[in-house]
Amino acid sequence: MLGLSCTSSLRRLVLGFLLMSTSLLFFFTYYKYDFKFSSSGLDMRREDLSWSWDQDRDQDRGVNDTGRVQSEQDTLLLIWMWPFGSPYELSCSIFNVSTCQLTADRSTFPRAHGVLFHHRDIRQDLDNMPTLPRPCFQKWVWSNMESPANSAPIPELNNIFNLTCSYRLDSNIPVPYGYLEPLTTQDRSFQLPPKTKLVCWIVSNWNRKHRRVQYYEELRQHVQIHVYGDAVGQPVSDQDYAHIVSSCKFYLSFENSVHRDYITEKLFSPMNLGSVPVVIGPPRQNYEDHVPADSFIHVDDFSSAKELADRLSYLDGNTTEYRKLFTWRRRWKVKKSWFGREQACRTCLYLHRNRHVQVFHELNSWFWG
Ligand SMILES: *[C@@H]1O[C@H](CO)[C@@H](O)[C@H](O)[C@H]1NC(C)=O
Ligand SMILES: *[C@@H]1O[C@H](CO)[C@@H](O)[C@H](O)[C@H]1NC(C)=O
Ligand SMILES: *[C@@H]1O[C@H](CO)[C@@H](O)[C@H](O)[C@H]1NC(C)=O
Ligand SMILES: *[C@@H]1O[C@H](CO)[C@@H](O)[C@H](O)[C@H]1NC(C)=O
Repeated sequence: MLGLSCTSSLRRLVLGFLLMSTSLLFFFTYYKYDFKFSSSGLDMRREDLSWSWDQDRDQDRGVNDTGRVQSEQDTLLLIWMWPFGSPYELSCSIFNVSTCQLTADRSTFPRAHGVLFHHRDIRQDLDNMPTLPRPCFQKWVWSNMESPANSAPIPELNNIFNLTCSYRLDSNIPVPYGYLEPLTTQDRSFQLPPKTKLVCWIVSNWNRKHRRVQYYEELRQHVQIHVYGDAVGQPVSDQDYAHIVSSCKFYLSFENSVHRDYITEKLFSPMNLGSVPVVIGPPRQNYEDHVPADSFIHVDDFSSAKELADRLSYLDGNTTEYRKLFTWRRRWKVKKSWFGREQACRTCLYLHRNRHVQVFHELNSWFWG
């Protein structure tokens, strides 16, 4: 089980290792480590990340001089299991990716270029993993959008994958819950929605041990907070959600657990709907890897909940200052990623562009360590 059907894989490994050491030597000789951008460098950083789908490139489509599409060059990605059992449409056309074929038909296993697994659906005893040997060109892709606190490691998975696909920016195929894209001339300019409330929070999972609940208890001593959601017996439909969030000046974007890059739709939805997120999650610096520094308020910017409440009340009274929190909307719009489908299509495109051997070692210490 989980074996490889390539006898020459060891030779390749040695050759690969030699090549890699040589290129690493070159890399460290010539590469000047220069990573930290100033806050004004945010634009640069965002372009570096290039979340926009720039897939419509001729070399990807396999269009040659005659302009004909060579479909035999398509990359085939087998979706081994639906994330949480929920199927999605097996097409990447919404992303304009035409070089990829997604399938859920397990009989294609021997010829699939990649196989996509969803961590939370892998059984502890691995008895729902493939039993056929892995073809030598095939890459196994680990995907997970849950935080380490909400998913358990499986020891046997430590060294069997070739690639990772998750919200972590240092995944091979990063798929954050949302991202910003530059406005185009077609986009309408942003209008601040009418506000009837100062601070709102929609919460379904109430756990006294969560930092977010403790912080809420403190904050509400100093400022009125409108609370909705299953936790308080006020379920919120999708339509209600947009209506409630946009009518609040501030929204408590409190993540259920605090982990690097674990920044979910709790941030991106209010940003999209015209409410200012007040965040609990990873440090401010990490948020700034994802969104502009002046687009959110971080609880760690304040020495106490009282101080934060004072700031919110001040911004309530000063529209000029409040509006500054939307300056970023002159240049950016929010994109939320499609759950499941976006991971699959980005993975397929990645496989299409990266045909070389890749191995991901020590999954467990990388993600849970
Ligand atoms: C271009 O693609 C067509 C159709 O697949 C093929 O017949 C032709 O030989 C290709 N031309 C080149 C220059 O690769
Ligand atoms: C796909 O292509 C169409 C037409 O060129 C364009 O309007 C649309 O924005 C593209 N979608 C993406 C996700 O790039
Ligand atoms: C609001 O803040 C601005 C600074 O951005 C200041 O000039 C102005 O006096 C303030 N207005 C009120 C009503 O406090
Ligand atoms: C995929 O990973 C396995 C296990 O680490 C490795 O032996 C194999 O060479 C990799 N295949 C490719 C195509 O990268």
